[in-house]
Amino acid sequence: MARRLAQYSESADGLTCTFFSPAHKAAALQLCEWMRSAGLRVEIDAIGNVVGRYPSPASEAQALIVGSHYDTVTNAGLFDGRLGILTALVVTEHLRCVGWRLPFHIDVVAFSEEEGIRFSVPYLGSGAITGNFDEATLQRRDANGIRLADLIGDNSASAIPGLARPASTLRGYLEVHIEQGPVLLQRDFPVAIVSSIAGSARFSISINGVAGHAGTVPMMLRRDAAAAAAKIVLAVERRCVEAPTLVGTVGQLVVPHGAINVIPGRCELSLDVRAADDSTRDAAVADILGAVEKITKCRGVTADVKEIARYPAVPCAQSLQSCFAKAIAKIGIEPFYLVSGAGHDAGMFAGLTEIGMLFVRCGNGGVSHSPLETVTEDDADVAARVLLDVLVNLGQSS
Ligand code: CO
Repeated sequence: MARRLAQYSESADGLTCTFFSPAHKAAALQLCEWMRSAGLRVEIDAIGNVVGRYPSPASEAQALIVGSHYDTVTNAGLFDGRLGILTALVVTEHLRCVGWRLPFHIDVVAFSEEEGIRFSVPYLGSGAITGNFDEATLQRRDANGIRLADLIGDNSASAIPGLARPASTLRGYLEVHIEQGPVLLQRDFPVAIVSSIAGSARFSISINGVAGHAGTVPMMLRRDAAAAAAKIVLAVERRCVEAPTLVGTVGQLVVPHGAINVIPGRCELSLDVRAADDSTRDAAVADILGAVEKITKCRGVTADVKEIARYPAVPCAQSLQSCFAKAIAKIGIEPFYLVSGAGHDAGMFAGLTEIGMLFVRCGNGGVSHSPLETVTEDDADVAARVLLDVLVNLGQSS
């Protein structure tokens, strides 16, 4: 199914499916058709989420949302997001086929946008359903100058606030997602229970030195902004190996107007620090910013440090984690836990309802956001069996 869904692409030679492109709309219709033939009640909502309900016989029941996203990055893998939708879909179809009714509705939700590619804002789909959609986003324009509000139409734009689900109507949120990293592959587990979604702190740092002639200024008299930045990159690396879930990345390094024969007068760098818990992350951030100060002082340059964002870490519900653990143990696999270093739609549901996530082993060394991304059929099967068992158990305990 993931392979069939990948036929809807903006490029002929790979999978690119960004928000509201013709390929994206075609993918939504395909998902709609599959959900309908699985016996779900389906609708596409104002922001393009495909929502398929397997209703509970109890009409006043809450809804358990099981979902992930169907948009992709540019030149994407086939399973990022989509594996979670398809797993939810086949499991729910199975429940319906065997006639297993639950005390809650199951809403299989294919979120329209998670990656933030087209409008540089992620979580448009899950943001709308969780009431986290910022109305100002409607005024944003894509690379071609198209406004989000114009793209979806005024009627849809004004319907977005109405998509927000009140907490009282929700039983919980579950998401199956490929790991997008190498740990499960290395540790030889098919699936992992996600214990929390790491929160990130993001900064942009601008180092100001003094530009000069590459031939005439002696080494000891230079105030090289890029050399200071290099020291900072190494300081980030040194600090972030100190705690197991801590990661720090300088992903952008720019010397504006740099030239081969000019000493860098300025260097701009980004900083992204993440950890399983906020205190570990914030301690690292404080140390790194301290190092930035020391390095710049010692080299006679200055730094402007701007905090861009600080997202809190989101813990997954203990009850849902143990539900996953029981289901995994039942099929003879030792439950294994992982922190999600990447953000996911699940994070949007934090504070609204209980969230639970299951990671599935990623092949090819754990590469994701790439056509090399793979998942085996056996691992997908394990994920589906685990999800099925979790749904049945939640139904019995509710
Ligand atoms: Co994803």
